[in-house]
Amino acid sequence: MKINLLYGTETGNAEMLCEDIQASLADEHEVTLTNLEDAALADLTAEGAYIFVCSTYGDGDLPASAIDFGEMIEAEKPDLSAMTFSIFGLGDMDYEETYNNGSQRLLDLLIGCGGTQHGPRGLHDASSGKPPEDSALPWVKACLATLPA
Ligand SMILES: Cc1cc2nc3c(=O)[nH]c(=O)nc-3n(C[C@H](O)[C@H](O)[C@H](O)COP(=O)(O)O)c2cc1C
Repeated sequence: MKINLLYGTETGNAEMLCEDIQASLADEHEVTLTNLEDAALADLTAEGAYIFVCSTYGDGDLPASAIDFGEMIEAEKPDLSAMTFSIFGLGDMDYEETYNNGSQRLLDLLIGCGGTQHGPRGLHDASSGKPPEDSALPWVKACLATLPA
């Protein structure tokens, strides 16, 4: 299956996680990896499944590499009705009020343009001290296993 993996990051954790996800899927799938800062609208209408990984920064904001992308989606309102996507968020529960708001914001933007979410939003809490791949890799497998053919 073709899998479009896109990430938004501030300090590189989401990128490193996506590299692990890509490596874990590479034997069975064709996986492309794109930083949201390099993503164009045309990248949102490719065939295959979409997986977004996005952290939260500032006061519950999108991370630096996703800010322009968020603004582009809001301004252009592309038709994403053909897109099925899953989304995993990186955050920290020490930021109680804004925990994982960045991935929620991205999720809302994609749904607002007609995208269909598949599976529950995956969440990682940096304050847990556990590496994100421990929860993200099983989450990815579960998402892909339940994708409609
Ligand atoms: C200055 C700063 C602000 C942050 N703000 C939030 C926040 O509002 N909500 C949240 O859930 N996590 C917040 N985090 C935690 C990050 O989302 C978390 O460390 C994540 O793993 C960073 O991933 P990245 O390197 O891909 O950006 C913040 C971290 C820093 C250093």
